[in-house]
Amino acid sequence: MENISKVAVLGGAGRTGNYLINQLLNKGFYVKALVRNPENLTIQNSHLEIIKGDAVDEEIIRLLLADCQAVVSTIGQRPGEPMVASQSVKNVLKAMKELNIDRFVLLAGLNIDTPFDKKSPKTIMATDWMKTNFPIIQEDRQKAYDLLVQSDVGWTQVRVPFIEFTDESSEIEVNLEDCLGDKITASDIVVFMVEEMTESNYSRKSPFISAI
Ligand SMILES: NC(=O)c1ccc[n+]([C@@H]2O[C@H](COP(=O)([O-])OP(=O)(O)OC[C@H]3O[C@@H](n4cnc5c(N)ncnc54)[C@H](OP(=O)(O)O)[C@@H]3O)[C@@H](O)[C@H]2O)c1
Repeated sequence: MENISKVAVLGGAGRTGNYLINQLLNKGFYVKALVRNPENLTIQNSHLEIIKGDAVDEEIIRLLLADCQAVVSTIGQRPGEPMVASQSVKNVLKAMKELNIDRFVLLAGLNIDTPFDKKSPKTIMATDWMKTNFPIIQEDRQKAYDLLVQSDVGWTQVRVPFIEFTDESSEIEVNLEDCLGDKITASDIVVFMVEEMTESNYSRKSPFISAI
């Protein structure tokens, strides 16, 4: 696989996305970030390039991914807007194929199901809560997972419980069948995602990660 030097980021102006961009820059990567409102992104760095646009736009995603060797997404659904998860994944996978990019790491909630899960009653309850209260968002995220499975790229879908937006760090548990903890910090999430981007320890898998 080609060495990764430049990374395309989706959702970079969001809460976890800010941590992600900083982690990538601190690790020496060049970053191309898709942002709808550039004024919302306060990070300034000579290694950071901003692409203004919407993730549902296929052409913008192609422009975003050009010259990149990996894609990382912390995109999240905004209330009242068209569903973004499956359309953005579809656009990313198409552009990855065209541009010969093989690495895609994305963030999701513990509520996404995979055939390999052995969710505890607590995790099932949290999943069912999403299904009951946000059925369309849940369905769209599930559709995004199906698109990943049908693709032939090296994706990793990282699943997390409640996120605490702090720089704090603790030992984390990685599990392929169930989410064992109740929370995780944004800082620990992005460390895991960036490491996974380069190491591919969980390629074509959906690990749960949480604080121990
Ligand atoms: N927060 C939690 O406790 C939690 C728990 C489990 C899982 N998650 C998942 O973790 C991920 C990150 O969560 P977060 O709380 O950090 O998210 P967030 O702060 O809500 O940020 C979401 C980002 O996605 C961007 N976005 C949404 N629709 C877009 C579109 N059509 N085109 C381009 N960008 C778009 C938003 O851009 P704008 O700023 O332009 O709207 C924003 O930057 C999400 O997938 C979420 O479901 C979160």
